[in-house]
Amino acid sequence: MSRLFIRGGRPLAGEVSIQGAKNSVLPILAATILTAGQVEVRHCPALRDVDAAVRILRALGCDARWEGTSLVVDTSGLNDWAISDILMREMRSSVIFLGAILARCGQARCSMPGGCELGPRPIDLHTAGLRRLGADIREEGGTLLCRAEKLTGRQVVLSLPSVGATENLMLAACGAEGTTVILGAAREPEIEDLALFLNACGARVTGAGSGTVTVEGGRKLHGCAYTVMPDRIAAATYLCCCAGAGGDIFLRGAREQELFAVTDALRRAGCCVTSDSAGIACACAGRRQSVGSVRTAPYPGFPTDAQAVLMAGLLRSRGATVFEETVFENRYRHVDELRRLGADIRVSGRVAVVSGVETLHGAAVECTDLRGGAALCTAALAAEGETCVRALHHIDRGYEDIRRDLAALGADIERKETRLTGQE
Ligand code: UD1
Repeated sequence: MSRLFIRGGRPLAGEVSIQGAKNSVLPILAATILTAGQVEVRHCPALRDVDAAVRILRALGCDARWEGTSLVVDTSGLNDWAISDILMREMRSSVIFLGAILARCGQARCSMPGGCELGPRPIDLHTAGLRRLGADIREEGGTLLCRAEKLTGRQVVLSLPSVGATENLMLAACGAEGTTVILGAAREPEIEDLALFLNACGARVTGAGSGTVTVEGGRKLHGCAYTVMPDRIAAATYLCCCAGAGGDIFLRGAREQELFAVTDALRRAGCCVTSDSAGIACACAGRRQSVGSVRTAPYPGFPTDAQAVLMAGLLRSRGATVFEETVFENRYRHVDELRRLGADIRVSGRVAVVSGVETLHGAAVECTDLRGGAALCTAALAAEGETCVRALHHIDRGYEDIRRDLAALGADIERKETRLTGQE
């Protein structure tokens, strides 16, 4: 069992380089299936979800190996089109592989991703979009069977700007004949990163980052070397840590243009946030101000992935902040754990009201999900005394090494691994 021991209650000071973006590298790794030749994914974060993607690629017969901080992938040996149930369960976003496998092999099989820690995770938009491009998709006993002798470019309208569905369709559309236009596409920066990667491989994708993405299909894709964008949610996490504990930090490589919703909230809270081409700096002292209301929304709205860490950063603010989670149904599971540290939070449906308290105190807490786990670390840094955070496998899904990064920012933090005793 792994645990973090965080002794908080003192300001942060230091600098850290921001890892490559998890949500960008996962679709890029799926996209490698469309290429002939070697792909070098640079600035690839070494985290559990990337391990899961590597295991999927290898299980399909592809070659993936680390060379320093690059992941080098060669999918020429691909000889399977099914993703096992175990790998699907490990990472629900493995459904993004569907479009790429279908485009390359004419068929694909995976299990249906069920509910997860954030609530139900339907994939109806993915399947409806793929069907529109000509795929025949059937569900049998929890397994999704997809076939398409030929995919044909069409206009596809997404009723919700789903990030995963947009990515899946972009990948399938690369292998389709003719032009696909995705209307109502998600506008997240990671979609733009995926398009840049695909274009570096010889695809023709335009409009990514806007609500209309156009893909001219049928082009042969080759290998390339591509540097993954910095992880805006990791950057948001460390900014919120500074907001909670106070201090003066610098996030090298972080890009504010993708984080305005978060930096705007932090400025309203009283943090001094500045940025240039090298990164983002944040300084604050004393207690924060409440920020009124924070409503999560698809990009460029406030990211749902930063809701928990901002909440944790505001636990000691003056006044009350009202959070409204509009993207996922069940995204307040970290609240009970934050209360153990002395937080005052009331939840009613999709709304959570955080009333700032003067002090937080250390406690034993357990991660409930990836970003909820990061929020516990954020709160622990603002709490007097020691906090023990367990169930770190959630955090390890998305942060390369949160202990290393927080220690570089001046935190008193230790990670201990102990053998399982049968009770964990
Ligand atoms: C991605 C991110 C995740 C982030 C989320 C929203 C990755 C690997 N994960 O997840 O970190 O929190 O975007 O920014 O990039 N929906 C449907 N039907 C569908 C698909 C989605 O109803 O077929 C709903 C979902 O239930 C959810 C909303 O749409 O309520 C947004 O989901 P989506 O944008 O698809 O999130 P993911 O791509 O799963």
